[in-house]
Amino acid sequence: MQPTHIRAKMISRIKYMVSNAIIKDRRYLDDEQLIRSEQLSVLEEIFNANVRDTEITELSSHFAGILRKDHPCHLAIWGKTGTGKTLTLSYFLNFLSEMCSQENIPIRHEHLDLSTPCPCFRALNDLACTFNASKRYKKGISLEELMLRIEAKLSEYEGYLILFIDEVDNVKRDRDTFLTFLVRRLPQRIKARLILVLVSNRLNWPDHLDPRVKSFLKLNELIFEPYDAVDLQHILRIRIEKALCKNAVETGVVEKIAAMASMDHGDARKAVALLAKSAYLAEKDSTKITLETVDKAAAEFDKDRYLSLLRSAPVQLQAAMASVIQATIQYRDKRLGTGRVYDEYKKICRQASLRAMTARAFGDLISELDIYSLLRSKVISRGRYGRTREIVLELPTSLIADAWEMLKNNLNLN
Ligand SMILES: Nc1ncnc2c1ncn2[C@@H]1O[C@H](COP(=O)(O)OP(=O)(O)O)[C@@H](O)[C@H]1O
Ligand SMILES: [Mg+2]
Repeated sequence: MQPTHIRAKMISRIKYMVSNAIIKDRRYLDDEQLIRSEQLSVLEEIFNANVRDTEITELSSHFAGILRKDHPCHLAIWGKTGTGKTLTLSYFLNFLSEMCSQENIPIRHEHLDLSTPCPCFRALNDLACTFNASKRYKKGISLEELMLRIEAKLSEYEGYLILFIDEVDNVKRDRDTFLTFLVRRLPQRIKARLILVLVSNRLNWPDHLDPRVKSFLKLNELIFEPYDAVDLQHILRIRIEKALCKNAVETGVVEKIAAMASMDHGDARKAVALLAKSAYLAEKDSTKITLETVDKAAAEFDKDRYLSLLRSAPVQLQAAMASVIQATIQYRDKRLGTGRVYDEYKKICRQASLRAMTARAFGDLISELDIYSLLRSKVISRGRYGRTREIVLELPTSLIADAWEMLKNNLNLN
């Protein structure tokens, strides 16, 4: 075969892909790749369309005191993931800082991102890093020393200091120590006027706080409601305009993605991720994004989510899940009582050289899997035969085989 053939083939494929390209700037499909200023400019367009109006108005009222040289109180913000808390707050605080500097009001705001669970030490160390008071992977110093270093760095500053503590519920160990430091100790040791903004994805978060910290916080609360389908459509349309070529999207696609994400508690992160996945799939097949592409993207999205959830779960939880899958396959069409599944579980533990938990502890594992929506379990009364728990696997059928393969590998089953 002559070498020109393969060249001609490459050229024609590349030309074809170029003329049928649907992605213009893929960075707008993935927020991680956007620099802060680009992220904020996308946002401004959306806020101008009155999305997040209530929240921004409330934030403005809350912080207005600063421009009267008053000292606003701390603020607590709740809302499910993907409701725009991080972005909205960053946008607002940047704007507030600009306004203050025009009025010569000294202000400084710092964002502490706790999006992965961490102990108090890491949270404090990360906070210290934002003030150049420590190094990122510092070890071997005490909590007390970290606190002293932060205080030392701030000893001279007299303006407003806004600490935006994002996903504060992720401080898993010594949380009260962390909050007591922020709420009670820090304000007494520095001259700055401290305003804490505590953000959490969990509504019931303050229930677990030390009552002394709770009463000290006297929080003002702001709740981020889930985005509705119309908000999500706005968000998607602006992304499409920036990221995709003209006519890359068939009619109905935006509405469909928005509807899917709004059923899932109005999660804008999911909406953007579904759009991105659809665009990649369409690009691979060099077609437009169609309604079918979206279905395919949604299936892949769920698959990724379930499998990564399982992959990173503790090993006992994986064994429990494996036993539910095994029992479901074996007793097809029959009701799955806890007893049957527990027998499977013991078998799996033997094969995987794991210590089997008691039946009672196994019940707790099942409840945990229920919380993750990997299965459904309900207690059924059988009259004088007592009560039993019935278990139904909740994985989409197309996923069961993949999940089983993954668990089999992870647990070294044969
Ligand atoms: N108003 C918005 N405009 C554009 N994209 C948004 C908006 N709100 C959320 N998003 C998208 O959803 C993702 C999650 O937003 P984020 O502010 O991190 O939510 P939260 O902090 O509430 O979990 C963002 O990365 C972005 O892709
Ligand atoms: Mg966030």
